[in-house]
Amino acid sequence: MSDAFDALKERTQASVMNTYGRYPLALAKGSGCTLHDLDGREYLDLLAGIAVANLGHSHPEIADALARQARELVHVSNLFFQTPQVELAEALLGTWGPGRVFFCNSGAEANEGAIKLARRYQRTVRGQDRFEVITLTSSFHGRTLATLTATGQDKVKEHFQPLPEGFVTVPAGDLEALRAAFTPRTAAVLLEVVQGEGGVKLFPEAYLRGVQALCREQGALFMVDEIQTGMCRTGRWWAHQHHGLEPDVFTAAKALANGLPMGAVLATEEVARGFEPGSHATTFGGTPLVCAAALKTVEIMHRERIAERAARMGDFALALFADVAAQNPGKVKEVRGLGLMIGIDLAFDGQKVWEELMKRGFILNLTQGTVLRLLPPLVIEQEELRRFAQALSDVLAGQ
Ligand SMILES: Cc1ncc(COP(=O)(O)O)c(C=O)c1O
Repeated sequence: MSDAFDALKERTQASVMNTYGRYPLALAKGSGCTLHDLDGREYLDLLAGIAVANLGHSHPEIADALARQARELVHVSNLFFQTPQVELAEALLGTWGPGRVFFCNSGAEANEGAIKLARRYQRTVRGQDRFEVITLTSSFHGRTLATLTATGQDKVKEHFQPLPEGFVTVPAGDLEALRAAFTPRTAAVLLEVVQGEGGVKLFPEAYLRGVQALCREQGALFMVDEIQTGMCRTGRWWAHQHHGLEPDVFTAAKALANGLPMGAVLATEEVARGFEPGSHATTFGGTPLVCAAALKTVEIMHRERIAERAARMGDFALALFADVAAQNPGKVKEVRGLGLMIGIDLAFDGQKVWEELMKRGFILNLTQGTVLRLLPPLVIEQEELRRFAQALSDVLAGQ
């Protein structure tokens, strides 16, 4: 490592809270799918800041939209009306259907909002004291107290007890277990169509439709966490659209503004009645500056048909990685994914493979110990994916 990196690392450790196991790399510049470190070394980004920079880094049109808006109006609070917010709400509903949007600042905050909306809708609109939210094992919904309780992984809960009441976790993929978990207190089921942190896990369509049907039958809301899967990541605007699902509520964040912090709760017109003035709020939610970036992101995604591109490139990548697996028998348990949300599940602990790929200039993530997780910018080229597949094959051959 260079002196510049060592100095930065030391300053970080002396001033920033120690909540992240950071990889020894300091990034200084990005453009498209390329990142540069402090010393000017180039990397291929296959992570997009964890499914955030879906249109690539430093997109010139988004930078221009931001600069324009920054000179016009940055923030006024939600005590007033402003144009960028309503334009964005209309644009997002245009990718889904009639409904209402609540804007916030992160994924966890969006899920908090969805949980609050479910409880309040059940009580104030339906007049039923339903407050429990059912979630699935190996899910991930955030790090606030309510969303980490909703998360179906014990590691995020350690030492944070007592946890908020009203959450039940059932085995993912098991419809009978879900049926048995419903009570007259169940307000909603919340799930990811493809579990991200959980290791890029997909569900059969019959299961997802079964969950929705059970929710309807039991008077619970069907809520989908699209924070990682949304904004064209899986080859559709929203992953639930692959399966013809009709959630009552879904949440978005990450790629909404291509890198600026933003979250959103989208709900049907009926369920949105659960919120009234004063029932939920956040100072920065839907601020003109971030809305301008998000609006430009949505506009480019439509114009460039980014969802179709992600579907096409995803198929290409899955075939490429299946070839790598075939060339390295016994080393890859499974290659799976939807669009450009891809997991390469290794047959052994993946730490060494991941570190070697990072050393070779490929930025990606390892989750659940064995799964190389790829969430590249959706503008990635075939040649870039081929370059990574070759490196992966070389690294696996050496294991
Ligand atoms: C599916 C899902 N939900 C919620 C979150 C939490 O989002 P944030 O980190 O913006 O709070 C994440 C983040 O990784 C996620 O992947």
